[in-house]
Amino acid sequence: MLRRLHHDQPATFEFTPANLAWAKGQMTKYPEGRQASAIIPLLWRAQEQEGWLTRKAIEHVADMLGMAHIRALEVATFYFMFQLQPVGSVAHIQICGTTSCMICGAEDLIRVCKEKIAATPHTLSADGKFSWEEVECLGACTNAPMAQIGKDYYEDLTAESLSRLLDELAAGKLPVPGPQNGRYASEPLKGLTSLKDLESGRTQYNGSVQRAMDLRDGIKRIDGTEVPLLTPWLGGAAKPAKPAKAAEAAAPAPVPAAAEKPKKPRGLKAARKGGADDLKLIKGVGPKLEALLHGLGYFHFDQIAAWGPAEVAWVDDNLEGFKGRVSRDGWVAQARELAEGGKG
Ligand code: FES
Repeated sequence: MLRRLHHDQPATFEFTPANLAWAKGQMTKYPEGRQASAIIPLLWRAQEQEGWLTRKAIEHVADMLGMAHIRALEVATFYFMFQLQPVGSVAHIQICGTTSCMICGAEDLIRVCKEKIAATPHTLSADGKFSWEEVECLGACTNAPMAQIGKDYYEDLTAESLSRLLDELAAGKLPVPGPQNGRYASEPLKGLTSLKDLESGRTQYNGSVQRAMDLRDGIKRIDGTEVPLLTPWLGGAAKPAKPAKAAEAAAPAPVPAAAEKPKKPRGLKAARKGGADDLKLIKGVGPKLEALLHGLGYFHFDQIAAWGPAEVAWVDDNLEGFKGRVSRDGWVAQARELAEGGKG
C-alpha cells in the first residue's frame, strides 16, 4: 500500500505546552547529539495530540530533533502505526484481520465498519466521527476477534457488539474496554478450571481494563495534562513548559541533571525528634543504601524531596557501590510523594 501524505494539510502545527515539556523530556534520554533517537515517541505524541500526522507536525518534530525533514518523513511513512490522513473525530477503529481473528469473525466486524463508517478504509464517515482500517495481529489472539479503538482493546467481539459500541461512541459514551462477552480476561468462557484462587481476589476489571477505566483517556486527544510528567532521570519532575513558540520548540532540550555542577546537600547530624523516616519506602532503597544515606546525614523524606539537579548529581556520585541510583530510580519524586503522605 502506498503511504503518502494527505493532499489536504493544515498550515501549522504546535505541541501543547504540556506535550512540548513531555517531548523535551524525552529528548534528554539520549546523549548530546543523538536527539534524533527520540523521533518515534515525538511523532507518536504529535499523532496522539492531533489524531493523525500532518506534514507540519512531521517537519516540526524534525526541526526539534535537528533532522532533515526527509529523515522524519521516511520514518512517518514507513510505519503503519502513523496515520497519514485525518481520522474520525471520535475514534479510529482498527480491526485485527490476522489468522485467529479472521477465523473467529473479523470479516463480520469489517462488514460492520463498511456499513456504519465508510466503504473503504482510511475514509471518514459522513459525519466525520469515525474512520477504520484492518490491521495485523494486535497480540490479543486469545480474545479474538478484537479491535483497537483509540488506545484500548475491545475483545471477543461480534458484529452486534461492535455495532453497539459504535453507537455508544457516537452518542458520546466511552464503553468499557476488554472482553465483550462476559469474560474477565482470557480464561475459558465457563470460568477458571485451574488456579481458581483468582476467583476470590479479583478486582472489578482485569489489569489493563482497570487501568483504562482509571484513566478514561481511551479516545481522547492527548494534550499532555492526562498524567503527570515524570522525568526521574533528571532527578525529579520536569518543570511545566511555557507556551510553545516555534523558535522555543526548536530550542535544545533542558540540560540533564548529570551536567549540573554537583553540590553536596545539607545533611543532619542525626534524625530529628520522632526518629528517621523509613527511607526503604523509596523504591530502590534497601537497608544498605539506607545506612549509606544515614551516614551522609540524610534521614528524612523532605530532605531528599528538596534536592535539585546539582544535589542529585552529588549524591549520585557519592553512593559508593550504588552510583547513579538517585536519578535512575527517581528518588526525589518518590520522596516528595512520601513526604506529602503518599505511599511512594
Ligand atoms: S490474530 Fe487478532 S489479535 Fe492476534
